[in-house]
Amino acid sequence: MRLVLSLLLAYVGLVVAKNTYIATVPKQIRAGASARICLSALKRIDRKVTIFANILDKQNKTVASTQAQRFLRQGQGVVLIKVPGNTPAGYDYKIRVRVIGDITFDQTATRVQVTSKVSSIFIQTDKAIYKPGDLGIYDVILQEITSVISYNETESS
Ligand SMILES: *[C@@H]1O[C@H](CO)[C@@H](O)[C@H](O)[C@H]1NC(C)=O
Ligand SMILES: *[C@@H]1O[C@H](CO)[C@@H](O)[C@H](O)[C@H]1NC(C)=O
Repeated sequence: MRLVLSLLLAYVGLVVAKNTYIATVPKQIRAGASARICLSALKRIDRKVTIFANILDKQNKTVASTQAQRFLRQGQGVVLIKVPGNTPAGYDYKIRVRVIGDITFDQTATRVQVTSKVSSIFIQTDKAIYKPGDLGIYDVILQEITSVISYNETESS
């Protein structure tokens, strides 16, 4: 039997502002798998940052967290966060992404779905990084937006 792969390219765009990042996180993640968080700075210069990512449940309890130092080439990078295999399926998860560096960033995507380990297949886009100016991708991001976008430009000196 053929598995029907539903191409839910369900990514949530997290932020739009000049001196900041666009972070994309999957809208649906699978217990036992790794979720990919892509970061793309609008100012595309190389920079070194520390990225913190957390998956929170309905009660804001952390179910997974990761911390990584990344050298963002052209302002772009990826960090993976492992979703524990025993995470209960549900719709009310959140993914918080924080970046510490010359630009700070702290946004939380809400209504992230966790699917059970066995029941579903999640397909990620073939594109790891969304480039600013890529209109097709922006369309997707804007349609999939679930959390808004309260933003501010914070640039520490
Ligand atoms: C979880 O955190 C958010 C943002 O800080 C808050 O609005 C919400 O009320 C919290 N939920 C619970 C169950 O504590
Ligand atoms: C950004 O932050 C500053 C200082 O906290 C505040 O005065 C300003 O209104 C904020 N701007 C936006 C767009 O939130």
